[in-house]
Amino acid sequence: ILDDTAAVADWAARFVLQRVTEFAPSAERRFVLGLPTGGTPLGMYKRLIQFYKEGRISFKYVTTFNMDEYVGLPRDHPESYHYYMWNEFFKHIDIEPSQAHVLDGNAPNLVDECTRFEKLIKEAGGVNLFIGGIGPDGHIAFNEPGSSLVSRTRAKTLAYDTLEANKRFFGNDISKVPRQALTVGVGTVMDAKEVMILITGSHKALALAKAVEEGVNHMWTVSAFQQHPQALFVCDEDATLEL
Ligand code: GLP
Repeated sequence: ILDDTAAVADWAARFVLQRVTEFAPSAERRFVLGLPTGGTPLGMYKRLIQFYKEGRISFKYVTTFNMDEYVGLPRDHPESYHYYMWNEFFKHIDIEPSQAHVLDGNAPNLVDECTRFEKLIKEAGGVNLFIGGIGPDGHIAFNEPGSSLVSRTRAKTLAYDTLEANKRFFGNDISKVPRQALTVGVGTVMDAKEVMILITGSHKALALAKAVEEGVNHMWTVSAFQQHPQALFVCDEDATLEL
């Protein structure tokens, strides 16, 4: 528990810095990082870019997999997660473009696309560190309430609460928010060696309480990480209001 969003961003970025540098990735042995989008991780990405510019971290031998992507939104739409990742992070660092994997929400066959993504993760040797955010309804990636806790990458129809929460990115017009997304499954994230969930703001307080103080429950999919051997929740004071 840290004081505020700035402290969470700084702590999370330092954690990534530490994990990547101690691993000392190389061409033969890459570090595999799972990444989120949304407002919460923006500060962490800014700090990581700063660390990169200061020469304290390199992403040359880092492979990334993003959690999710909207279905049907053009890749260059400012709210697509492709655009977000390139704009907010990838274009500022030395990552190999072919090693920065984001699900293709415009693939002709979405089932094949999800299978391909799972296969790529497996071929990369699994994820070393999966970073995630959560929705106010406790969803991880786009694993909406009621998702199976052993789910794999697939297409999901978004819950009304998620459309409401994300409409701020679409001119506050709920009709503009895509109705479907591709998302890694809860099981996909559970397979990572280590998981770090970032939670900030009082609007996430109920979700944090459900995640850590009640039983594992598929209506609050983030609660699955109670059963992960190495999961870490990094939150600010505001998010702890219901604990
Ligand atoms: C979306 C994403 C999630 C993200 C959540 C929270 O629903 N699919 O991966 O964690 O938003 O976003 P924010 O950080 O903007 O609150």
